Amino acid sequence: MKFFVDTADVNEIRELNDLGLVDGVTTNPSLILKSGRAILEVTKEICGIVEGPVSAEVAATDYETIMKEAAVIAKIADNICIKLPLTLDGLKACKNLVSDGHKTNVTLCFSANQALLAAKAGATFVSPFIGRLDDIAIDGMDLIREIRQIFDNYGFETEILAASARTVNHIKEAALIGADVVTAPPATLKALVKHPLTEAGLATFLADWAKTGQKIG
Ligand code: E4P
Repeated sequence: MKFFVDTADVNEIRELNDLGLVDGVTTNPSLILKSGRAILEVTKEICGIVEGPVSAEVAATDYETIMKEAAVIAKIADNICIKLPLTLDGLKACKNLVSDGHKTNVTLCFSANQALLAAKAGATFVSPFIGRLDDIAIDGMDLIREIRQIFDNYGFETEILAASARTVNHIKEAALIGADVVTAPPATLKALVKHPLTEAGLATFLADWAKTGQKIG
């Protein structure tokens, strides 16, 4: 499973990338707002930090303007991935951008039928939003399961990018189902390492080691 980090904060991306935990980055207009930076400038910087795909989202909703914005975003770097809304105009743009050799991420997916459309449009990634479904008392994991089955039934190559993952259990369940990628905030990715028995065990080993009076090397 690939790990993408869901942030436009370059310091956090750098830290996780140095830990070897970043296979790509996802951003969205809300994350750009939170970063306080200009989209083209911050996205270019992110593309220089990580080797994998960096999703940057268009702001337009009509096909013509989506394509104009996509052309600007595409020039940022070779590892850019153009993020498009799951609408008819977004899907049309996806099909044409993929034909032109661009990577695409179709976002705001909340149903298996929407994911099917993204796959038929040739999207590189489709982003079903787990957490936002959970917010309205619908199990987001059921959606990941349905999409996995549909894509496997037909051999679609579009990767399932489990998005809006907010807890370590979201990541574990998405991995068990077989999502290709998960994107999560930096704190959630870092929290994967935590286990109370690891912490307690390490504390005991360190205390006993100090009692031996030994040094290694
Ligand atoms: C994905 O690409 C989105 O940027 C993100 O995962 C949305 O997460 P949220 O629902 O926690 O805002």
